[in-house]
This record gives sequence, structure tokens and C-alpha cells, in this order.
Amino acid sequence: MITRTLNAFRGAVRGWKTPPPVAGRDWHPTWLPEELTLGLESTVHPHCPEERGELFVAHNTGSTEIETLNWLHATVCLTKPAQVLETGALDGLGTLALAAACRDNGFGRVHSVEIDAAACERIAALIRRHGLSRHVEIHCGDSRDFLRTTREQFAFGFFDSLCDIRAEEYRICLERSLLSGIAAFHDTSAYRNRTLPNDPTPAVQAEYRRQVLELARDPRHSGHFEHVLSRGLIVLFPRVNPPAAA
Ligand SMILES: C[S@@+](CC[C@H](N)C(=O)[O-])C[C@H]1O[C@@H](n2cnc3c(N)ncnc32)[C@H](O)[C@@H]1O
Repeated sequence: MITRTLNAFRGAVRGWKTPPPVAGRDWHPTWLPEELTLGLESTVHPHCPEERGELFVAHNTGSTEIETLNWLHATVCLTKPAQVLETGALDGLGTLALAAACRDNGFGRVHSVEIDAAACERIAALIRRHGLSRHVEIHCGDSRDFLRTTREQFAFGFFDSLCDIRAEEYRICLERSLLSGIAAFHDTSAYRNRTLPNDPTPAVQAEYRRQVLELARDPRHSGHFEHVLSRGLIVLFPRVNPPAAA
């Protein structure tokens, strides 16, 4: 209660949470640490009107929107993966949402691959602070090197490193049969370059979308889903063999 009051005060001073995230909505998923400062997505990340950034909540420009993190948490709670892959971790919010879902399932481990050594230390401290260390393994290095050499197997993948390499990361997973479950690709908005002209360049963003949508047509998948608001998300579903007839 005290933390909530302090957060509301801090938010009001910084101009965040005023007006509340979505007209009158005071939403805070139970897995999300109370002390995390939240703002409107449209305040922390540039968006064009079609992306409806004002309907979303986020911590900062680099971290995933809370709605997307909540989807990750709910989907891990639904699909019960024993091992989860995350490429790119930055401030650790994706790692935290996925690890909290493993904790809420009673089992599971998140393998989070991050190239920035300082970020790896920050994430480890965050995860320790929230008592989630037994559900997280941080791999500090290039995601592609990790995926080419790991002996781990995953049942859920969140691809969130550089847009330039996410399709390649997934192709390595396919080639090595590392991932048996859902693959979620963040930052897939087709509108991204209207407000972020060079992050990544229009050519890279278009190629990222093209490659992920091409992968969705691979016969190893049963289909895909595209969420087009905010930063966007494309989710590929693996083909599941039906049980043999009795
Ligand atoms: C968009 S941020 C990740 C956000 C995080 N997943 C979240 O949910 O808040 C991208 C991160 O990918 C990392 N990164 C970039 N290239 C990478 C690579 N080749 N291997 C692993 N991590 C990489 C960056 O250092 C950065 O921290």
C-alpha cells in the first residue's frame, strides 16, 4: 500500500500515470513488482496513431510493454514449458515475467541470453531480489553462439534481441530442433519506421517481418498470429501431431 502510494506520487511528479494508463484503469498484474515505475507506452516509446501506444503501459523504451509481458506470463502458465528461451534481456523485465510464470507453475527454468555484460549483472541482481534465481539461468554472450552450441531444449521461445538477427536465431532453433513450442517475436510492427526511422532501418525492419512471416509458412508450423498494436508481436505455433486413433 505504501509502495503504491509512493509510486503514485512519483508518477504524478514525473508526469507518468497522469492520466492513468488507460482512462481510469489502474491495472497491475500480480507478478509485476510494485516498485517498477510505469508510464504510458506512448510516453516512453514513439508511435504513430495506428499503433495505439496510448492504450499500453511500459517501464521504458527498451523494455517490453506490460501487456506483452503479461501475455508471456499467461502463456507460460498455460503451456507449462520446462525450459524457456529468451534472446535479449536488457533490464530483465521479460526474464522476470517468464521466471515468475515458472514459479507460478511450480517448475520451469528460463534461459536468458544477453550480450551486454553489464546488463547480465543487472538482471542477475533483479532476479535475486525477487527470489527467482532458481528459475533463471543467464547466458552472457551472443545468442547465435549460444543457440549453435547449447544442449538445452526449450518449449517456449521469446525472441527479443536485435531485429536484425531474430529470424536467424529461430532458424538455428529449427535446424537443431531446440524449440518444440510457441515462438514469439517482438517489435514486428509494420508501422515502426514511421516514428523510428533508423532503429532499425526500414530495410532491416521489412526484412525482419518478411523472414518471420516466411518462417510461419514452414510446414513445421500449424499457423501464426500477428498482434499489430504498439510495438507488435508475431507468434508462430508449432505443428502438433494429433494422438493416434485408438
Ligand atoms: C529489446 S532489448 C530486450 C528487452 C527484454 N527482452 C524485455 O522483455 O524487456 C534487446 C536486448 O538484446 C541484446 N542483444 C543484442 N544483440 C544480442 C545478441 N547477439 N545476443 C544476445 N543479446 C543481444 C541487447 O543488448 C539488448 O539488451
